[in-house]
Amino acid sequence: MCGIVGFISKNKDTNFLIEGLKKLEYRGYDSAGIAVVKDGEIAVQRCEGKIRNLEKKLDDFPMESTIGIGHTRWATHGKPSEENAHPHQSAGVVVVHNGIIENYLELKEMLKGEGHKFTSETDTEIIPHLIQSFMKKGDDFEAAVNSALKMIRGSYAIAVINKAEPGKLITARFSSPLVLGISSGEYFVASDIPAILSHTNEVVFLDDGEVATLTIDGVTVKSLDGVVKEKKSTIINWSPVMAEKAGYKHFMLKEIFEQPQAIIDTISGRISEDSGKVFLPDLNITTDDLKKVKKITIIACGTSWHAALVGKFLIEELLRIPVEVDLGSEYRYRDPIVGEDDLLLLISQSGETADTLAALKEGKDKGAKIVSICNVVGSSITRVSDGVIYTHAGPEIGVASTKAFTTQIIALYLFTLFTGERLELIALDDAKKMLLDLVLIPNQIKEILEQKDTIDKIAKKYSHASDFLYLGRGINYPIALEGALKLKEISYIHAEGYPAGEMKHGPIALIDEALPVVVIAVRDKTFEKMLGNIEEVKARGGQVIAITDAPADEIGAKADGVITIPTTSHLLMPVLATIPMQMIAYAIADFKGTDVDQPRNLAKSVTVE
Ligand code: G6P
Repeated sequence: MCGIVGFISKNKDTNFLIEGLKKLEYRGYDSAGIAVVKDGEIAVQRCEGKIRNLEKKLDDFPMESTIGIGHTRWATHGKPSEENAHPHQSAGVVVVHNGIIENYLELKEMLKGEGHKFTSETDTEIIPHLIQSFMKKGDDFEAAVNSALKMIRGSYAIAVINKAEPGKLITARFSSPLVLGISSGEYFVASDIPAILSHTNEVVFLDDGEVATLTIDGVTVKSLDGVVKEKKSTIINWSPVMAEKAGYKHFMLKEIFEQPQAIIDTISGRISEDSGKVFLPDLNITTDDLKKVKKITIIACGTSWHAALVGKFLIEELLRIPVEVDLGSEYRYRDPIVGEDDLLLLISQSGETADTLAALKEGKDKGAKIVSICNVVGSSITRVSDGVIYTHAGPEIGVASTKAFTTQIIALYLFTLFTGERLELIALDDAKKMLLDLVLIPNQIKEILEQKDTIDKIAKKYSHASDFLYLGRGINYPIALEGALKLKEISYIHAEGYPAGEMKHGPIALIDEALPVVVIAVRDKTFEKMLGNIEEVKARGGQVIAITDAPADEIGAKADGVITIPTTSHLLMPVLATIPMQMIAYAIADFKGTDVDQPRNLAKSVTVE
């Protein structure tokens, strides 16, 4: 939610702020703005809408400078408008902010009492005024920022510049992500790595309660109480081109097509088909730790929650350890029964989702062992986990998650095999067979991707429908949920995912000739039942799109559209069944002309509750 950037450099730069913001646009895109120090004065440009509007505005008002901050907004307090767009300022102190200041009304009243005037409806605007108020009372710039932050309740990642000290950028975080970029003679700050990748791949992750001061001579990090912190930098092995569209019409399409490679990267170096072993060094968990686990709870939000549901099937079937799955936003408020015998498995692409992070902290406080599956190295969730399995999917920019999802399932598969081997619950020959199945997956995905034209044709035929139903059973039921979510997110067509066995308990009433029903009918133990469901839909005039690994003659006559996927073990079928789901949603959204990569009202990284 919201993206912030900032830089300080020996040389004048015009591009970093805009280019950096474009890389963060997935975080929010309802208004944007930048501020620089120019000729000794603060210059600010803001506008409603996407970064391209701001870019146009800058054609008439160039903002070349050696220091600046920028923001792309996802509105929480106050509607999207130029007045509410960041940066916000007070007498030469200018701030961009990601997060929510919970006690802003109280602070606003106090500041009004001191004579401060406000021009926006945002919570953020109190920050520059508060800093200014402390400066008036005698604090220097850094002390004033610290004093202001100590009064704030809520979450923040901020970057601040000050006309009076134009060689200093101050940045700080609490519960909102922030990363510093280190290069020679120039330093950067951003909400996420892709914004700074084209300038440097050396980064420092700030922790909660830390404040960094950037000058052209370097970076100093301190606690809010002024204690200097020694920070280690990390080298990120993503290349800038990984965050480009590379000729694809949308990031989402590129990311769908990147899945074979993303899966190769996620498994490479981690498995030995010869020995049947899985290596997860960052998991940081001993066999004794694993033996103690009586229950696993998998927690996630959105698409990652669908991966969690698949994880339950994998773990319970292979390890016979009970698994609960919960949404971060539910878990954190339901006083969960959790303790030292529990393992909490957090799944998050970004590693910054506020509810997932809060659920993690809840479990950690109660003594559970914490493992996360995450795509972003050094993100908040990974830093408070005891161990991590990174999905090596590369940066995911499209708001609708694709390659992160399939690599999350692969990571869950690896976790299950790793634990099964350590606890001697999976026979060696079975483990070898499962790893063989796994290494075939990337090529099997390619076979599905090659059917793009056929899938496009089937999808477009139904692009005028106002509702869709998605049905699946067992381990593929979460894929029905994911298919429906993808369609909703990017095409704005109402869609429901349902466990097929429940169809008779309600959704069957929706079926008529206008309702396309996407059915995952794969040849596992539920196949016959799924054929029965297809018959029931057809008998009521519904339109069936079948996703199947069965030969065309077994299902072709029954369905109105058939998408054939290769066969794999039933445990990996969800990965293959997901690909047509993504392709159907993409084809329909692209045909309708919606904003596929930045669908309305959504944001990729939900760092507020
Ligand atoms: C948002 C995104 C989804 C994502 C969810 C969880 O809703 O639009 O694509 O699945 O957040 O995000 P996470 O980064 O925790 O996986």
